[in-house]
Amino acid sequence: MHVAVATISRAALAHNLQRVREYVPNCPVMVMLKANAYGHGIVEVAKALADADAFGVARLQEAVTLRKAGFKQRIVLLEGFFCDRELPLICELSLEAVVHQQWQIDALSQATLSQPIRVWLKVDSGMHRLGIPPEAVTPALQQLKLLPHVLADMNMMTHFACADDLSSGMTATQIKSFNTQLKTFKSICPSGEVSLANSAAIVAHKQSHQGWVRPGIMLYGASPMLNGSAEDHQLMPVMSLTSKVMAVRNLKANETVGYGATWSSDKNTRIAVVAIGYGDGYPRHAANGTPVLINGQRCALVGRVSMDMITVDIGLVDVAVGDDVELWGSGLSANEVAASAGTIAYELFCSVTQRVLLRYI
Ligand SMILES: Cc1ncc(COP(=O)(O)O)c(C=O)c1O
Repeated sequence: MHVAVATISRAALAHNLQRVREYVPNCPVMVMLKANAYGHGIVEVAKALADADAFGVARLQEAVTLRKAGFKQRIVLLEGFFCDRELPLICELSLEAVVHQQWQIDALSQATLSQPIRVWLKVDSGMHRLGIPPEAVTPALQQLKLLPHVLADMNMMTHFACADDLSSGMTATQIKSFNTQLKTFKSICPSGEVSLANSAAIVAHKQSHQGWVRPGIMLYGASPMLNGSAEDHQLMPVMSLTSKVMAVRNLKANETVGYGATWSSDKNTRIAVVAIGYGDGYPRHAANGTPVLINGQRCALVGRVSMDMITVDIGLVDVAVGDDVELWGSGLSANEVAASAGTIAYELFCSVTQRVLLRYI
């Protein structure tokens, strides 16, 4: 029996994909399924988003999982291959590979493959994490174009560092840098396609709406923007993490609660002990005051998060053992909980552990 459950709404996934299409009606959509679909379960999410134009993953084993489950959609490996030994499987499974470094081009030039693979050249437009630097893009494209194991129809992409931050001019600078490469790209790959936008760029940077978009977090119903909320973009939360009250205690004024005795009450109060902890993926750094929904009422986390439990100040709220608790989800925004824990909704979702039952509705 699972006390902690993450309920995943297929309807919310479909709604959020529809929201993407409303933002970018003319762009094909590559949905991000990496990291077990941001913790939501890669196979079930892929089924719910099967209408997307392509799937994006970060690791070869994620693509293998999708192919084994029978998905025939285009699948793009966003970090390409990690060594040349992965190339035959990439070819066999008809996967598409991002190429972000010269060593990958060299590996492709040495490879013997049964059929050519489609490549997405990743350009470093300013994030300085992965990508071919601007001055090396033309020679890279020319070199790739000549390789027998690379499809002539190459694509070109980039990724943004600060698209979530409207006060930053970085996205405009990155788009400008990317656009300077377009003419050469089109001359070398006339039917090649491009891709720039992640979720934040989809909702906030129209100039990036060229070619493919690559939404992740917005599909899962959290705002991609700094200090944003799902309602700003009419997104529906997909995951609701719930558990149960396992004990209700009276606490006298000045008594402390939990490890380290870090919190004490300034008055007599009542504490609900809830069966969720960092062993389930609830963030250990959630601060005193982090909202927790018990029987639909907002209460405040107090004291340290333990491996299996949290303690919540319920004051006069009517709470009994066995009552329902929502940690984040349809009634309590993951963005808000994440902010209170010094993290982001992405990390909350990805951190949910195997002890939690993923239930699909
Ligand atoms: C290359 C790439 N594209 C798209 C995304 C999706 O980003 P988001 O979840 O912010 O939409 C990611 C996520 O990290 C990424 O690495």
